Amino acid sequence: MARKKIALIGAGQIGGTLALLAGQKDLGDIVLFDIPQAEGTAKGKALDIAQLSPVAGFDANYAGSSNYKDIAGADVVIVTAGVPRKPGMTRDDLVGINAKVINAVGKGIKENAPDAFVIVITNPLDAMVGLMQEVTGFPANRVVGMAGVLDSARFRLFLAEEFKVSVQDVTAFVLGGHGDTMVPLIRYSTVAGIPLPDLVKMGWTTQEKLDKIVQRTRDGGAEIVGLLGNGSAFYAPAASAISMAEAYLKDKKRVIPCAALLNGEYGVKGLYIGVPVVIGKGGVEKVVEVSFNADEKAMFDKSVAAVKSLVEATKKIVAAG
Ligand code: APR
Repeated sequence: MARKKIALIGAGQIGGTLALLAGQKDLGDIVLFDIPQAEGTAKGKALDIAQLSPVAGFDANYAGSSNYKDIAGADVVIVTAGVPRKPGMTRDDLVGINAKVINAVGKGIKENAPDAFVIVITNPLDAMVGLMQEVTGFPANRVVGMAGVLDSARFRLFLAEEFKVSVQDVTAFVLGGHGDTMVPLIRYSTVAGIPLPDLVKMGWTTQEKLDKIVQRTRDGGAEIVGLLGNGSAFYAPAASAISMAEAYLKDKKRVIPCAALLNGEYGVKGLYIGVPVVIGKGGVEKVVEVSFNADEKAMFDKSVAAVKSLVEATKKIVAAG
């Protein structure tokens, strides 16, 4: 069977980590793409990881490029092109620069990899993935945003630390936009199937502690931006996107939260926002609609409103050229 091809647009911190993880997971051959000024970085990372492959024991071709023709035939394209946050910035502060980058990148993907499954990581995520779908004109099941897997992983880690149990036994859902208004769903998060509210009743934790964990999850990206001082998180974002790519390439039918285009689900139409979806060979095969209580609905609606205003800002930037 021919190897699959994965194109990584942006060969920065996340791009390089994606390239390494994709190889280690035997997902296919990899092209690291960046702008001409950073072509050396793309080629250098590609060569460095290729030289790691005999030690790690996997076979994959690696190439670095600044020519869109080299992404031709890609099965999956993962986009991190753009700028990351600096301390004190919100993800929304990036819209001015990154909207122009996504506009250019979307055209390159449309012309050169028209059949690809596209995963967007560039922030502000919900607006950027929406723009990507518009620019490429690809069906919405083939354009998806990475946020919920990462936000849920952060939530799961903090919960596992609180309960002193394996991260493997903690499931959690974080929905809504990938920003300050994201919605960690306590009722649908469990330790070995036991919902968090029951664990409070069982005396394993308190509501106050859960509230703090929810807040730390919301601020999870900013905490790392503050610590790094120069850039944003890259290991966990890359691993999250790789799990989505793997679900698609191996038709795993994983149920994971991703930014997907809603068409009436959750009462929302024409907007990308984080919801649970099934990812398999058909891309986003299904949007899973969970029921909300009044508090959850209010939080979700607030998040939808925040994403809508960001999408408006993005449209103005793109229209102004
Ligand atoms: N086309 C291709 N690549 C581009 C373009 C473009 N038009 N513009 C910028 N890039 C490249 C940069 O040259 C850089 O190599 O994107 C790369 C971004 O890498 P980093 O600056 O290291 O950023 P990273 O940490 O990887 O994050 C990328 O993901 O999580 C989000 O907020 C984060 O928006 C940011 C993105």
